[in-house]
Formats: sequence, structure tokens, C-alpha cells
Amino acid sequence: RALRSCSTAPCPRHRPSSRLSVRDALGSHNASGERVKVQGWVRSIRSQKEVLFLHVNDGSSLESLQIVADSSFDSGVLTFGSSVEVLGQLIKSPSKRQNVELKAEKIEVIGNCDAKAFPIKYKERHPLEYLRQYPHLRCRTNALGSILRIRSEATAAIHSFFKNSGFVHIHTPIITSNDCEGAGELFQVEPSSKIKLPEENFFNVPAFLTVSGQLHLEVMSGAFTQVFTFGPTFRAENSQSRRHLAEFYMVEAEISFVESLQDLMQVMEGLFKTTAMTVLSNCPEDVELCHKFIAPGHKDRLEHMLKNNFLIISYTEAIEILQQASQNFTFTPEWGVDLQTEHEKYLVKHCGNVPVFVINYPLALKPFYMRDNEDGPQHTVAAVDLLVPGVGELFGGSLREERYHYLKKQLARSGLTEAYQWYLDLRRFGSVPHGGFGMGFERYLQCILGVDNIKDVIPFPRFTHSCLL
Ligand code: 4AD
Repeated sequence: RALRSCSTAPCPRHRPSSRLSVRDALGSHNASGERVKVQGWVRSIRSQKEVLFLHVNDGSSLESLQIVADSSFDSGVLTFGSSVEVLGQLIKSPSKRQNVELKAEKIEVIGNCDAKAFPIKYKERHPLEYLRQYPHLRCRTNALGSILRIRSEATAAIHSFFKNSGFVHIHTPIITSNDCEGAGELFQVEPSSKIKLPEENFFNVPAFLTVSGQLHLEVMSGAFTQVFTFGPTFRAENSQSRRHLAEFYMVEAEISFVESLQDLMQVMEGLFKTTAMTVLSNCPEDVELCHKFIAPGHKDRLEHMLKNNFLIISYTEAIEILQQASQNFTFTPEWGVDLQTEHEKYLVKHCGNVPVFVINYPLALKPFYMRDNEDGPQHTVAAVDLLVPGVGELFGGSLREERYHYLKKQLARSGLTEAYQWYLDLRRFGSVPHGGFGMGFERYLQCILGVDNIKDVIPFPRFTHSCLL
């Protein structure tokens, strides 16, 4: 690497400097001249009289560390965006703006940055749409930095939630031969044509990227009672909407011995609220940035969701509410027809902007695995969707059909009997009432942060006509 030193002042050998992250440096409230080394990227440069002020960020926190150097440092090579290593003394800052600052003895530019050509401009607040053009650089902005740190924190919080509730984490496969949702939104997996195979097909059966880990989780729930998975899922949905991706992360849980949707909804609400509270308490500055600059006013909306009990209405009640609405919908709400985004939006508003569970959908609208409610001519299944403000459907779940003969009938109705013999076996060998759900992780982040477009809460969004990088 090309090193360019801005200073000749060496760090005394007998006092080696320990590397500190910016976050740890900022947290050193009793700083009293310890020698430390900080590495990161220059976020701002200002020279005042004989002093040079830099702000360096390494992604460990939203806040940057102030570096103070005397103006003999060659500020010409210190540009916005360049990467640097700074050795110096960590001291209490005389300014009220920060607790500590680093008094530089040596600043080394590790990688230059041509600030004029750099698409991210100093002191500019770029719109998220602009940043989407630069998936390889946008993580260096405050906005994406905060969102992605929150994403990381929420991931850990979700794992903790399940661990603390006694769930076993299962790695469900990415490549699968089933289409769990039966919607046909599958990406087929085939080896590149350069690979010569003795057989005509690599797996001997058509294989796809998973649309859901549910069926594999159901296998595991037959041994571990409470299981979850949290991984990428893929849908070949021809949609460029602000809430659809071709590759997204799903949090899925499956619980044995549950007999009512109530039990499932309790876990779903617990997961939503516990994860949000953990994120709020572990990264308050990052959340504040989102709630202040990306989605002004969202703090109150989130608090409202967290302090109220989620509501429950049936699909039939939902249709009645929509039919009585003064608003005209593009799609006329009718019993037996799926809820559209406009309907979900209306229902959430009607329910006072509190998340609302919609339960018991018509059997004809849902996949083969949902439990028959046996409720007469309307014929519904024990399905549950959670609708949330700003996003619409966030969770989808159900009680599963655990009764052999009912499931057999459902599979036959869907023409799946042959392919799902193994799934029927689960009902032959120690079947139990069970149920589960899936939550779209990006939609969850949108919901708690108020981010309008799903493409801004995932590091590398994939959607129709776009697979950058
Ligand atoms: O409602 P879905 O399709 O449910 C299932 O896949 C079940 N097998 C899950 C289960 O019971 N284990 O998807 C679950 C959630 C949706 O509510 C939504 O939040 C999210 O996954 N989702 C998407 N998120 C982003 N982009 C897409 N294309 C999505 N499709 C679904």
C-alpha cells in the first residue's frame, strides 16, 4: 500500500499504542493522555489558526472522533474520504461538544481519496435514492451507517429473543426441491453449462432457491419442539415496489404443541416488541438519526406501536370494515378475495395505527399446509397475518394441518400428493398440533425505523432488473 506520512513525529517505542475503535475511544470518559492508535476514514477537516481538526469514523459508532493536530501536518493529503491511521494521546476535550479528543502525534494516510470524484460529498445530506446508485460506497454515509448498525443489532436481538425463549436455531437449506408457498415464484438452480455432468441433472430433481424454510422447520419441530431459522429467502416476484425484494431475510419460527392462534400471536408480538426495545436501548443515536432525518415523527409512531396491545380482527371483519369504508378502493373488497396493499393500509389506519392481526382466511386463498377451521360454508383456515403501519403485511403464519387425512385431502387438492409423501409422514409418525410464522426482516426494519423503501435497509438489494455488484 502507498503510505504517505503527514508527520515525522514518531510514536515512542517504549510506549506502544494500543488500537482503539472510535466507539471505545469516545467512551473513555477518564481519558488522561493514554497513547492510542485509531484507524478509520476522514469525515471532516477544518483548520483554524494553528490547529487542524479532523473527524475520523470507523463504522463502530455514528459519532466520529475528533483529532487535533498542529497545522504543520500536511493537510493537503488529508482529504474527505481518505483512510488514516492516527497515533496520539487521548485527552479530555476542552470543548463541550465532545468528551474526548485525540491529540495527534502522527497521522498516516493509508489510502488517498479524490474528494472531487468521490460520489459522496462533504457536508451534503444525500437523499437515499441518490445513494442507491452506489451500493459499494453508500455504507460510508451516516444514514446507511446507522441503518446497517441497527440491522446488525436487530439480528443479534432476534437471536437472543429466541434463545431466551428456549428455541433451537436451525440452519434450513438454501437449495431445496419444494415450493413451500406454492406460488411458483421460484428461482431455479442449475450448474453453469461448463460443468459436465454424468447425469442429465445435478440433483436429479429440479432444485430452487428457497422461498421459505418453514417445511424444514416443521421437520425439526418434530424433535425440538421450538425452532427458528433466520436466513435469506428468494422470490422471483416481478415487483419493484417499495416493500418487495427478490432476496430478503426471513425470521421463521415453528412451535409444537400449540393449539391456538393466540399462542402464536403472543410470540409474534413479543418478538416485534422485544427486538425493537433492544435496538432502542443499544443504539439510541443511530435510531435517533433515522427518526430525525429519514423519517421525522416516526419516534412517536413507534412508541405508539410499542405501548399498545396489538389488535386482532378476523378476515371476515376486515372485509366488512373495508366494505363500510367511505374510501373508494381500486380493488373492490369482497369476501374470498385477497387483501391488497391499499386494504392493508386502510385497516391499519382504521385500527388507530396499531399493528393488527388478521386471522382466519378463506381456505382457497392460502397454501395447502394451513389447518382447516371446519367452519361451515365459508370454510376458513387458521391463518394469521400481522399488518403494521407504513408497511402492511409484516408476518404471515398459521396453525399447520397436523391431521393426516385432512392434509392428504389438501395435498390432493393441490396436486402435491406424490412430492410431499415425506411431509405426510410427519403426520404418520408422532404428529402434534403445531404452528409457526415468518417475518420479513427488511419490512421489520422499515417498520421500526420509518424507512420508506425496502432497498435502503439491506446492504445489497436485489430486485427485478437489478443485481448490482
Ligand atoms: O407470508 P409469507 O409468504 O409466509 C411464508 O413464507 C411462510 N411460509 C412463513 C412461515 O410461516 N414460516 O412471507 C412471510 C413474510 C411476509 O409477511 C413479508 O413480511 C415477507 O415475508 N416477505 C417479503 N419481504 C420482502 N420482499 C418480498 N418479496 C417478500 N415476500 C414476503
